[in-house]
Amino acid sequence: MSNKVKLMAANWKMFKTREETRETLHDLSMKLTKIPHDRKVVIFAPFTAIAQNFYPADEGAFTGEVSLAMLKEIETDWVLVGHSERRHIFGESLELIEKKVCYAIEHGMNTVLCVGETLEEREADKLEKVLKAQLECLSKLKGYDAENFAVAYEPVWAIGTGKVAGPAEILEAHGIVREILQDRLGAKGADINILYGGSVKPENTAEIIGLDNVDGVLVGGASLQAESFAQIVQA
Ligand code: PGA
Repeated sequence: MSNKVKLMAANWKMFKTREETRETLHDLSMKLTKIPHDRKVVIFAPFTAIAQNFYPADEGAFTGEVSLAMLKEIETDWVLVGHSERRHIFGESLELIEKKVCYAIEHGMNTVLCVGETLEEREADKLEKVLKAQLECLSKLKGYDAENFAVAYEPVWAIGTGKVAGPAEILEAHGIVREILQDRLGAKGADINILYGGSVKPENTAEIIGLDNVDGVLVGGASLQAESFAQIVQA
């Protein structure tokens, strides 16, 4: 197992008002009494608390969007790009995601890029093809390294469905992502964190996090309650 710091990330999506955010963070701080020294906790909270999304321009006529400068002003230090809900519900294209990830890194924002195949793509044997296409943006990306960039592999069929990917499926997909990273970055590609996401729970975290090339988790549903996210971080 690798000895790099694991990212234990919570994706709160469109849940929690500011008051609920304050309460959950308070509970979490009471319960997270011993974060293992090799783990780092990241919370992707909703816009009004801090954010999971931004628009890749300094400013302009983009109604309803938020800029990186606005997020930095409220001390946001990580953003999520390419989440399957952004790709599929909001129609974000590969081109827009590439623009966002490049913009974020160039503007000094730590970024988690989410990738993953739909069930249809998996059944058509297109896993590698899909991951390569979603990671093609790396060829345009400059100045990213293990300090400011991570990839989250999230099979779309496992997000919010309770169907966690099995160890063999996770190993295969993370192996492909690692190969692509090493292809782009040489030996430094080994240092980039690859997170697994999709129905992570307190009961399955230890097994998932112990797999080769799994350097953290991105947790949706099970991160909403302080108790279960605290168990995941400490699993
Ligand atoms: P889930 O969501 O843990 O509820 O499956 C994961 C995610 O969407 O990042």
